[in-house]
Amino acid sequence: MSKLLQHMVLKSLAALLLCYLMPVEAAQLMKQTGAQIRQSSNANKSVFVVADWGGIGSSPFVTPWEVTTAAAMDSLSGRLPDGSVEAVFALGDNFYSFGVKNVEDDRFRTTFEAVFNGSRLRPTPWYLVAGNHDWLGNASAQILYSKRSSRWNFPDYFHTKVIQLDGIGCAAFILVDTVLLSESAEALHPDDLYRPPTLKSAKSARRRPKLTDVSIDKYFSWLEKQLQLYYSCPYLFVAGHHPVWSIGQHGPTSDLVRRLDPLLLKYKVSAYLCGHEHNMQHIVLNGTDYFVAGAAAHVTTSTAHMGLFPPGSVRYYWNKQADLDGAFMTLGFGSDYANATFVEAGSEARLLYSARLPRRRVHQQFSGLDDGVL
Ligand SMILES: *[C@@H]1O[C@H](CO)[C@@H](O)[C@H](O)[C@H]1NC(C)=O
Ligand SMILES: *[C@@H]1O[C@H](CO)[C@@H](O)[C@H](O)[C@H]1NC(C)=O
Ligand SMILES: *[C@@H]1O[C@H](CO)[C@@H](O)[C@H](O)[C@H]1NC(C)=O
Ligand SMILES: *[C@@H]1O[C@H](CO)[C@@H](O)[C@H](O)[C@H]1NC(C)=O
Ligand SMILES: *[C@@H]1O[C@H](CO)[C@@H](O)[C@H](O)[C@H]1NC(C)=O
Repeated sequence: MSKLLQHMVLKSLAALLLCYLMPVEAAQLMKQTGAQIRQSSNANKSVFVVADWGGIGSSPFVTPWEVTTAAAMDSLSGRLPDGSVEAVFALGDNFYSFGVKNVEDDRFRTTFEAVFNGSRLRPTPWYLVAGNHDWLGNASAQILYSKRSSRWNFPDYFHTKVIQLDGIGCAAFILVDTVLLSESAEALHPDDLYRPPTLKSAKSARRRPKLTDVSIDKYFSWLEKQLQLYYSCPYLFVAGHHPVWSIGQHGPTSDLVRRLDPLLLKYKVSAYLCGHEHNMQHIVLNGTDYFVAGAAAHVTTSTAHMGLFPPGSVRYYWNKQADLDGAFMTLGFGSDYANATFVEAGSEARLLYSARLPRRRVHQQFSGLDDGVL
C-alpha cells in the first residue's frame, strides 16, 4: 500500500470513528476545518446533485440503485482533484417511505452513513432539503441531525449554500422546500396519499404545517430576497425536490409553474435542480435550464408527460431501470461555463450526458456572501 493510500485509509478510519463517537461540538468543529481544507485546493470545483436517494422503508433500507450510486460518487470523487468536490446537494426523499421518526432513528445510519461511506466521498459535506416522503415522517428531526453528523447540513427547510470559486466568484445554491411552496400539487396532501392507516392515526406522525400556520408568501419573499442577494454570482441555482417541468410520471408541478418559474426567468438563474421523478432530465424552456436528477435510488421508466413539451425543449432524458444502476448529476465550474453532467452508476461512474451552462454576466451589486438561513 502506498504511503498516500495508507494515509487516506487511516484518515478515513479516524473520520469514521469520529463520526460515531464525536460529541456535537466536535462535529461542528470538523465541519469548519473541513471547509478550510477544501478552500485550499485551486483545481476547478465541482458539486454532486442527488435526489430521491433515500433507500427503502424496510430492511435492508437501501436499494441496489442507491448502492451503485454511492459507489460511483465515491469513485468519481477519487478521480477528481483532491478536495475539489465542494458539496453534495441532496434534493429530498432522503428516507423512503415515511421519513424518519426522530433524530435517533437508525435510518440515518442504514440509509445514509453506512452507504455513502466511501473514503473519497466521505469528506464532502451534504446540503439537504426535504421531499414529500420526508414530510410523511419527522422532517424537523432531519434538521436536528445536522448537529450529530459532521457532513449533514440541513439548517432549515430553506437555506442557501455559497461556494467560492477561485478567480471566478460565487456559485450560489438556494435550497427551497417545494412541499411548503406548493398549495395544490401532490406535494400538498402527502398525508392522504401515502400515510398508511396505522401511521395516519399515530400522534407521533409529523405533518406538514397547516397552510394556516405558514405563509407561502413568506417563503416566496425569502426566495426573492435570496435571488436578489446573489444575483451577481456567476453561477446561481435554485434547487428543491419537486420539478417545475418534467416529462415523467408526475409531470410539471402546477404551483411551481405558476409562482416559481417566473422568478427563475426574472433572475436569470443558471438552472433549476430537482428530483421527485425517478429519472434524469434536461429541459430548456424559454431560455431557462431545468435538470431532474431523481434516479439515485429508484428508476422509473414513465415519460407520460412528454407530449406537453415543444420539439427541441427536452434536450436529454435517461430512464434505464433494468441495469439496477442509479444516476446522479455533477456540476463542474470553469471561468466561462459550468459543465452539467449526468453520470450513470455501475461498476464505474459512466458519463451519460453533458451540457454547458454559461457563466452569468449580470451587473448588479449585492450586499454580502453569508450563507442565508430562513
Ligand atoms: C421529532 O424528532 C425530535 C428529535 O428527535 C423529537 O424531539 C420530536 O419529539 C419528534 N417529533 C415527533 C412528533 O415525534
Ligand atoms: C459501507 O457501505 C456498504 C454498503 O452498504 C456496507 O456493506 C459496508 O459495511 C459499509 N461500511 C461501513 C464502514 O459502514
Ligand atoms: C418567455 O420569456 C419572456 C421574457 O424573456 C417572457 O416575457 C415570457 O412570458 C416567457 N414565456 C413563457 C411561456 O414563460
Ligand atoms: C468540461 O468538460 C470538458 C470535456 O470533458 C473538459 O475539457 C472541461 O475541462 C470541463 N470544464 C469544466 C469547467 O469542468
Ligand atoms: C478548468 O476548466 C476550464 C474550462 O473552463 C479548462 O479549460 C481547464 O483546463 C480546467 N482546469 C483544470 C485544472 O481542470
